[in-house]
Amino acid sequence: MVVIQNNNQQGSSLLSKMATNNGHGEESPYFDGWKAYDSDPYHPTQNPNGVIQMGLAENELCFDLIPEWVVNNPKASICTAEGAKDFKDIAIYQDYHGLPEFRNAVAKFMGKVRGDRVRFEPDRVVMSGGATGAHEMLAFCLADPGDAFLVPTPYYPGFGRDLKWRTGVQLVPVVCKSSNNFKVTRAALETALEGAKEANINVKGLLITNPSNPLGTVLDRDTMRTLVSFINENNIHLVCDEIYSATVFNQPDFISIAETIEEEKQCNRDLIHIVYSLSKDMGFPGFRVGIVYSYNDAVVSCARKMSSFGLVSTQTQRLIASMLLDDNLIQKFMSESAKRLAKRHELFTKGLAEVGIDSLKSNAGLFIWMDLRRMLKDPTEEAEMALWRKIVHEVKLNVSPGSSFHCSEPGWFRVCFANMDDDTMRVALSRITNSMLQTKQEPPRRQCRRNNLQVSLSFRRLDEIVMAPHMISPHSPISSPLVRVGHK
Ligand SMILES: Cc1ncc(COP(=O)(O)O)c(C=O)c1O
Repeated sequence: MVVIQNNNQQGSSLLSKMATNNGHGEESPYFDGWKAYDSDPYHPTQNPNGVIQMGLAENELCFDLIPEWVVNNPKASICTAEGAKDFKDIAIYQDYHGLPEFRNAVAKFMGKVRGDRVRFEPDRVVMSGGATGAHEMLAFCLADPGDAFLVPTPYYPGFGRDLKWRTGVQLVPVVCKSSNNFKVTRAALETALEGAKEANINVKGLLITNPSNPLGTVLDRDTMRTLVSFINENNIHLVCDEIYSATVFNQPDFISIAETIEEEKQCNRDLIHIVYSLSKDMGFPGFRVGIVYSYNDAVVSCARKMSSFGLVSTQTQRLIASMLLDDNLIQKFMSESAKRLAKRHELFTKGLAEVGIDSLKSNAGLFIWMDLRRMLKDPTEEAEMALWRKIVHEVKLNVSPGSSFHCSEPGWFRVCFANMDDDTMRVALSRITNSMLQTKQEPPRRQCRRNNLQVSLSFRRLDEIVMAPHMISPHSPISSPLVRVGHK
């Protein structure tokens, strides 16, 4: 008789060290917010006092533009009368180079996103399962276990899972500070590199995210040049995650590494690699379209072999190729997306400013970097987590604490604003406003201890006033039937 082992601990002792370590990060306190959302998700009519999901960097503002295109382009899908005859071609094994039209379409789109100031070669486009897969693939290509990448802080929490977990690679923080708006300076880069050398860590590269998650800012031309000269002088790689490149909604313009290396003729292009995906710019994370674009032929060739582990399905390639090659759709989508992001960003930041909450000045991304430092009891990570727990469990907004982004200064929080409709955004703002007003109305004795967001039950009544029928916020990765696999 077979006895099914359901004791988790005994069961996991049978697994590998990699399977049982916490490299994925799911056990981190960061996910408590997702759990809180998942067990009590906000719904305008069915659960108006539930938690609003503001921890998910998803771009849902332009979905109305897509269904019409899908209906008008039945051949793009094999699930239509017009496309069904190609079913077999799509269903059989694919060449891991990808469909030529897919690579052409992606290369063209990447150029368009950069204002056609640079050209991308379709033959350098390598597929992966989202940017998640692209990062791991590059880490495997560029570094051995124990080697490291420098990463400016604050940075996307998923990098731990993507770059470190299965590869054994390390991440060394380049500490950036609010005093200069978290600018990546030459001095910070050198300090990090020196520190790594002293610890006998072999640094293989520098990883930057531009536009930044979580800051929502773009790197300026001087910084880009600094990065290029730094990596060339030290003969290390530069991996540029540019997955938010089309989310720039205000000046200054985004400057891609592809443009910078055109200007910096001395740059050794073998060191330059771009990670891209359609998860943010088009708002399509479900399609898992990730790209490695490397200027190094050996990396392109190796990554292409590795891509067998995370190919984009041929059906998706076909659909996406047709969409990206439709100039009218893309033109409209990109300009509308930028407009709507700008409007949402303005609505949200103004609403916060009215109640005295600052945020870092930003012009890109799907989030703002909110400054609640003066609300901390003391400037510690514990105080940040205490405030964060109050925001999640009492104000009922799932925002993300700065510590999960490895921010060196407690009190910053990332708040996503593009994964919900206008009405939900107003409810979120009203909750923040109410809790701030409540804080201000505190009697003086308690105001001395004002440092936490005080929560008023009255926000619930306000929610009800501004409520209207709208969509349900998305599920978290913990228990959603459509399991989402990571920190976004
Ligand atoms: C900077 C950054 N890189 C990579 C990813 C992962 O993207 P994908 O969904 O394409 O795997 C994210 C997702 O939030 C991100 O913010």
